[in-house]
Amino acid sequence: MSYNTIITTDTDLCARAIKSGEIVAFGTETVYGLGADCFDEQAVKRIFEAKGRPVDNPLIVHVCSIEQAKTVANTWTEEMEQLAQRFWPGPFTMVVEKNPDIPDVVSAGLDTVGIRMPGNFGAVEFIKKCGVPIAAPSANTSRRPSPTTAMHVYHDMQGKIPYILDCGESRKGLESTVYDVAGKVVLRPGVITPKDLETVAGKVSIGGKETKKPQAPGMKYPHYCPGYRVILVVGEKSEEKIRELYLEYSGNGQKCAILDIEGKLKNMSAYVISFDGDMERCAAALYGTLLDLEASIDVLFVRGIEKKDLGLAIMNRLEKAAADNIIYC
Ligand code: TXA
Ligand code: MG
Repeated sequence: MSYNTIITTDTDLCARAIKSGEIVAFGTETVYGLGADCFDEQAVKRIFEAKGRPVDNPLIVHVCSIEQAKTVANTWTEEMEQLAQRFWPGPFTMVVEKNPDIPDVVSAGLDTVGIRMPGNFGAVEFIKKCGVPIAAPSANTSRRPSPTTAMHVYHDMQGKIPYILDCGESRKGLESTVYDVAGKVVLRPGVITPKDLETVAGKVSIGGKETKKPQAPGMKYPHYCPGYRVILVVGEKSEEKIRELYLEYSGNGQKCAILDIEGKLKNMSAYVISFDGDMERCAAALYGTLLDLEASIDVLFVRGIEKKDLGLAIMNRLEKAAADNIIYC
């Protein structure tokens, strides 16, 4: 099906579309999502089609209240209540046992489900008006960087979806922290850090290759890949290495840029984008920056940062964007 995609701020119109079985993109504080009624199997299937998403990658269910979250989960424990009270609305997804009424297509056949209450007024109002929890992945074609504005969604998905609910720019800019409540494991790092979680949950671990605990299935697929090569350079000699690579690649006629998050590269006559060490600003602008550069470069060199606090989530996305192009030096 081909649509004349409309960007709108009309939550009533978008809620009506959801009720009639359509899929609608909407803004949240993390990234834009592509939503459907989580109980409508056919509508949820259309999300997978529009994105080209592998069917074994489960969706997060978005709710407008704790009451609604209880209809998605199988049981509601004291720990879940505490996590919800502390981190919702906000960039936090809890993976819990699912209510069997949630169709398998949402959870990719798992008996768990990810639930989140977004911290964006427009998104919450929209979900309220829909009257049902909304299953939604990020509103991008699979593998592409996630969208943080309505225009990003439009450029990527126009013709494939009827409506984009413009909820403003996503203030946080990175997808939610995905946390497995039973295993106390962070499956995907985000703005809510392990340290934040530990204030409620006690000791938590960080999912990764070294753990045998279940991982977020989505993390095994290529992600955040813009239309140029991303080379991530990590380690003490990264400054020298980037100078060398920049000269080599630009000498070969490639259009290059450097992302220096900490703003430490000095006296470099090059196209350098920097956030002067402001991690929040970097997170908020990261995907927009990756997308904007598509118009002008062939290669982006990124200087790695410490995987600490918000740096953990930023490096997680950059490692995926770089895929096999990571140089340790
Ligand atoms: O901030 C966000 O989380 C955004 C906005 C739209 O809410 N959504 C988002 O969705 O990033 P998506 O589909 O792009 O990423 C969801 C991640 C995937 O890595 C998926 O594998 C994981 O959450 N996930 C979802 N349900 C899960 C479950 N039951 N068990 C383990 N991982 C799960
Ligand atoms: Mg995504």
